[in-house]
Amino acid sequence: MAREKWQSKLGFMLAAMGSAVGLGNIWRFSYVAGENGGGAFLLLYLAFVLLIGIPVLLSEFSIGRQAQSDVVGSYQKLAPKKPWFIQGYMGLICSFLILGFYSVVAGWSLYYFWNYLNTSFFNAPSGGYEAAFGTFITNPVSPLFWHGLFMVITILVVLTGVKDGIERASKIFMPTLAVLLIMLAAYSVTLEGALEGLKFLFQPNWSILEDPSVYLAALGQAFFSLSLGMGGMMTYGSYLSKDESLPSATVGIGLMDTFFAIIAGVVIFPAVFAFNISPESGPNLVFITLPGVFEQMPFGGIVGLVFFFLLCLAALSSSISILEVPVAYFMRKFGWSRTLSSAVLGSLMYLLGVAASLGMGRWSDVTLIGDRDIMGSMEFVASDVFLPLGGLIIALFVGWHWSKAEAFEATDMASAGPIRHIWRFLVKFVAPVCIAIIFLSSVGIL
Ligand code: TRP
Repeated sequence: MAREKWQSKLGFMLAAMGSAVGLGNIWRFSYVAGENGGGAFLLLYLAFVLLIGIPVLLSEFSIGRQAQSDVVGSYQKLAPKKPWFIQGYMGLICSFLILGFYSVVAGWSLYYFWNYLNTSFFNAPSGGYEAAFGTFITNPVSPLFWHGLFMVITILVVLTGVKDGIERASKIFMPTLAVLLIMLAAYSVTLEGALEGLKFLFQPNWSILEDPSVYLAALGQAFFSLSLGMGGMMTYGSYLSKDESLPSATVGIGLMDTFFAIIAGVVIFPAVFAFNISPESGPNLVFITLPGVFEQMPFGGIVGLVFFFLLCLAALSSSISILEVPVAYFMRKFGWSRTLSSAVLGSLMYLLGVAASLGMGRWSDVTLIGDRDIMGSMEFVASDVFLPLGGLIIALFVGWHWSKAEAFEATDMASAGPIRHIWRFLVKFVAPVCIAIIFLSSVGIL
């Protein structure tokens, strides 16, 4: 059977942007920025997106497009009998870890959407949103229901196939989400005490840069947000024909993704300070601040409804790109149908997510890595270890395994002028060295 293909370059762009823009920009960006002191973290994150993220993203796309295969198959095709395909297996493992916890948080978003739909969050529940959220996530049953519902929807989209399911879903909702976020940002900065929040986000506190874990957090966030280092973008690139040009698409996706994160920060941090919430509240940050904003706004209930609807869709267009990674592999490798692969793999990811979800309540005293709970440990291993490591391998592959001419050809940079040399320098030296230094210093070796 012929491999599927995107209908158009626009379809590819939208799907890749849909993958990049998701809970990572809104939920994860704000809580990680909050935990890492705000401004200085933001600068590091931006530097990593520009110097490492975008150049490596171009590399990841180009490997997939060149090979026209899945994460493992691409390396085996381009470099037979060489160990590069290990990155493919790492990507497969990583897809389970990431969708495992991602679907839990997406389930929380669905639950919020439902509570706006039935108007129960139009006004603060007795005890406030923070308490209501705490009661919900520690409940052993209901988060599993919403998480399961989200996973079922993800599976359904993936099993309808790449271009029908994935391409169409992204077209309308992304621009709507952008407009809504900008409106919310404009409202948020008028809150009493908003200035404190903007200062937190934009005024760097340089002393934070003495802590090596902040660099790792910013690097992990840059990779997570760009969907980079796992093979998701490689798989999406593999459905693109060779006659479409990659560099402009890559830069567009990178800038768009970053824009969403910054705007989300402008929505959330003023509210964090206006409502006296600690920026270090962790993964529940957006779920306890945003409802407060909506409650104060005129027509806030409706705005909340639309917001959580779009957030769920943004999460969906990301989750399908994660599930697509092992699905593409199992279809090729074991000849499974798309339906079977999506259903089986999606269900396994759900089970992994159950552990993450129970870790919020019943199993909350279980810590795996350091003092991190189950979800925190999955997030850490996946985003701060596997993704940068995957990115390192991708950069080495394109920078060192490929010759200059091969690399330029595969990325459509052959006639790109001096910028291509800068790109290659970043991929060949800057990205690997930075990633290596950040790893070594965060485990205390440097
Ligand atoms: N980038 C997405 C977000 O910000 C999540 C995501 C989708 C992802 N595909 C990925 C993260 C692949 C890492 C790897 O929500």
